[in-house]
Amino acid sequence: METKRRIVDKNVHNDLLYSQAVDMLRAGEVVAFPTETVYGLGAIATNENAVAKVFEAKGRPSDNPLIVHVGDPHDIEKYVQSIPEKAKHCIDAFWPGPLTIILNAKPSLFASNVTAGLATVGLRMPDHPVALELLRRLKEPLAAPSANRSGKPSPTTGKHVEHDLQGRIPLILDGGATGIGLESTVADFTVDPPVILRPGGVTAPMLREVIGEVIEPKSEQEQDSSVPKAPGMKYAHYAPDAPVYLIIPETSVITAAINEIHNNGQTVAVLAPVTCKVDAADWFFSLGDGLNLDEYAQSLYAHLRACDETTADIVLVTVPQTDGVGTAILNRLEKAANGNWWIS
Ligand code: TXA
Ligand code: MG
Repeated sequence: METKRRIVDKNVHNDLLYSQAVDMLRAGEVVAFPTETVYGLGAIATNENAVAKVFEAKGRPSDNPLIVHVGDPHDIEKYVQSIPEKAKHCIDAFWPGPLTIILNAKPSLFASNVTAGLATVGLRMPDHPVALELLRRLKEPLAAPSANRSGKPSPTTGKHVEHDLQGRIPLILDGGATGIGLESTVADFTVDPPVILRPGGVTAPMLREVIGEVIEPKSEQEQDSSVPKAPGMKYAHYAPDAPVYLIIPETSVITAAINEIHNNGQTVAVLAPVTCKVDAADWFFSLGDGLNLDEYAQSLYAHLRACDETTADIVLVTVPQTDGVGTAILNRLEKAANGNWWIS
């Protein structure tokens, strides 16, 4: 299959391109598109065969449910059994935006592979002009996981999607780099207080300001295994080919690690704030000034992917502070590193 990547300007209505995308989706095909978080790979959520193509293209395990994207908050009344008050308040406050809300789905409405056989469904309205235009024209719920091969970092550019899914999907709507760079917050509103299953751009303090108590997962180090997780969080994620180790953002500690790696005859790529730039690193990718966590989040996946273009044997990544979006960044880094810290 030939994969077409077509540039779609955020400000210009590219009529033909949107109609082609809508026609393909209605014909049971899959189409990749940008959102404000990461690129998604969409299929109409009521079409089991189309959704099967998403799993196939990604190489995704079938027990990991997909997020359903909507173009209008009112749409979800058609899809769920009821909308608790707290969910309504969060929809008012954060949609369109990076918050996925888990609710009890109406039975037999979505294709069973969307929900992986669960009685619940994750819903979100993305805050991106291309995604919203596509949804507005499609008038159908769009099931879309991140548009990467399973296990790799989520794509934050159209070229990342092309790299991973070339020859596996017919069309990529390329709207340039995504703004946030990390996937949405996933929160379960079928329980009270609601539980955050995956941290993201809408943080626990932001949710608490709107609805009061919210249960937040602990970092991997502190976590006990009884805490519920999004089904997808148990799989290897966000990982470049070389093993990743987490390290504290201190130049002396990073220098010692590099020396040790070099003494073992190995090479190393370092992802860190510029303030921790160590010349001895074989490759260095800047995560910004270390204080601006939005910049850290935005560039993280592109840098993890860039490690695969190097011949580094080991990747060292400094951990962020865990306020704001830092919690979500640390969560993704712990997955990428499989929980491993560099210990000299
Ligand atoms: O920002 C995002 O959320 C992006 C863009 C494309 O919208 N999408 C995304 O989808 O990250 P995906 O499939 O890569 O991650 C969805 C996560 C998985 O961890 C999955 O297990 C969880 O949401 N999830 C989906 N439906 C669920 C449900 N009914 N119950 C619990 N977790 C669910
Ligand atoms: Mg994903």
